[in-house]
Amino acid sequence: MLNIKDSVAVITGGASGIGFSMAQYWVEKGGKVVLADINPESLKIAKQKLKTNVATIECNVTKEKDCTKLADFAMETFGAINLVVPSAGIINDSLMLNIDRETGKVKSKMSLEQFTSVININLTGVFLTIRECMEKMINHDCEGLICLISSTGSLGTAGQINYSSTKAAVSVMPKVVTAELFRRKMAHKIRCVAIAPGYVRTPILEGMNKKALDYILNKIPINRLIEPEEIASLTGELFRNQALTGDVFFIHGGLRLDSKG
Ligand SMILES: NC(=O)c1ccc[n+]([C@@H]2O[C@H](COP(=O)([O-])OP(=O)(O)OC[C@H]3O[C@@H](n4cnc5c(N)ncnc54)[C@H](O)[C@@H]3O)[C@@H](O)[C@H]2O)c1
Repeated sequence: MLNIKDSVAVITGGASGIGFSMAQYWVEKGGKVVLADINPESLKIAKQKLKTNVATIECNVTKEKDCTKLADFAMETFGAINLVVPSAGIINDSLMLNIDRETGKVKSKMSLEQFTSVININLTGVFLTIRECMEKMINHDCEGLICLISSTGSLGTAGQINYSSTKAAVSVMPKVVTAELFRRKMAHKIRCVAIAPGYVRTPILEGMNKKALDYILNKIPINRLIEPEEIASLTGELFRNQALTGDVFFIHGGLRLDSKG
């Protein structure tokens, strides 16, 4: 079992929601945290709240140079990287084709910009973050976990062709990364998993259609949203337990999507 005490977590999107909750959990257990986010104001507030064992860096995960700087910064500040959580993510929902109920004709389409805005952050940003951080972990002989954040959206949510596509792609990454490390006999040392949350009480949900969210809330067997602290606790266990790698771990309160997504 790995110990969180004194180990170093790099968390993107760490100034809010799930990322921030993970940072709180990590520091409470004696770990050190590098928080990266595109929003300097919320980074400042997050740092004040965490108080100790935290370093912050402004970083846009879609920029290759920013991700390289982030990994360098983590090594210079704390001398190791043991947990990587690429939590920076957005939604930008709408139907791919908005079909008029009465005429049966297409009224509007999801723009290419709306599609790629999500791909760039949720998929390319994850690739850049883990590529840069894993390079340091390998070259500096660090032990630990890459914990990606997928979603139940990976199973296919209507109105989220952009978001669902990124989360499905992220779901396959633990298998690819684990296979690549296994080829070099390193898969026991650097493990890779994804968690796939259902609906978690964070600011990202404010961007969701209220009616769509209420519809989903009625389908959650535990009758509530998941708390970000519950996601942090799962991540802690995934880090500690070294038998866990190469797969996706759902945390959704029993939610199942139906054929209407
Ligand atoms: N909240 C949920 O219901 C839920 C469910 C499943 C998966 N997720 C995933 O969890 C992750 C975190 O979501 P959250 O709910 O905490 O959202 P959030 O909005 O609270 O936090 C996201 C953070 O990412 C930052 N960010 C956005 N673009 C960025 C960029 N280009 N570079 C760096 N930082 C950037 C934001 O400033 C923000 O601080 C996302 O990947 C999201 O898809 C969330």
